[in-house]
Amino acid sequence: MTQASENVVIGVIGGSGLYHLDNLTFVKYVNPDTPWGYPSSPITICSLPSGTSVAFLARHGPGHTITPSSVPSRANIAALKSLGVRVILAFSAVGSLREEIPPGTFCLPTQVIDRTKGVRPTTFFDGSVVAHASFGDPFSMKLVRWLEGEVGKALASDSRGVKLAVDKCIVCMEGPQFSTRAESLMYRQWGGDLINMSVLPEAKLAREAEISYALIATATDYDAWRPHTESVTVSEVFKTLQANAETSRHVAAKVLEGLNALAVQGDILSTEKGSMQYSIMPRSE
Ligand code: ADE
Repeated sequence: MTQASENVVIGVIGGSGLYHLDNLTFVKYVNPDTPWGYPSSPITICSLPSGTSVAFLARHGPGHTITPSSVPSRANIAALKSLGVRVILAFSAVGSLREEIPPGTFCLPTQVIDRTKGVRPTTFFDGSVVAHASFGDPFSMKLVRWLEGEVGKALASDSRGVKLAVDKCIVCMEGPQFSTRAESLMYRQWGGDLINMSVLPEAKLAREAEISYALIATATDYDAWRPHTESVTVSEVFKTLQANAETSRHVAAKVLEGLNALAVQGDILSTEKGSMQYSIMPRSE
């Protein structure tokens, strides 16, 4: 694998609508060749006002040409890791399964229900080494708790009046078609609050790579569970996508500097760092 060794600690993954960040100085593009191929897009290295570098990756490619089932998540996580990334702040457009989470709401989920269908490679350990990573808390809880305060402050300083919902459970479905009404109702009964097609296997692979990972989920629609309303369409999603992307760039600009300082200091990463040490199965004769 190409070792880019950029010593970039923070990685940002942009989802639908978020193909670049704002208020950062462009430094260069890098495109690390990993054992799992190239990432979804060349990675943009940009610098914060303090001079600190951040790596930005567009999950679906710069022109949104990669379907959720085909995102090269292993290459994406391996490429970020090769740059030195230890924290990933991921953004994703999501559907809402709850009345109290209207389109436009930003959410920090703490749990995931996996409804992908086994077509996505979900582990780096499918060769001669067998490993079982802990995934009871799929997101870095220290990072999520810190983000609750910081994203809340960032949203409060923005004129759009966007609300933040915390402690939510996200369902990750395969797609590319949206859910049926029956599925959407079932996910609500299961305890799902949000739904997307992208948080897995990304969060699993970040855990295997010992990278602290959190998702900022940005609601674009009410999915299909609501009686007497149209079920979700791409045009519905697009209505809020642009505003959500602008708010996401505002949030990123507000939180990245503080996040970098915390990450360098190290405590926020302590749960994930070294966590694979006890996950590798010893070989038996
Ligand atoms: N992404 C945005 N809205 C979605 C929905 N309703 N279902 C799955 N993924 C989504």
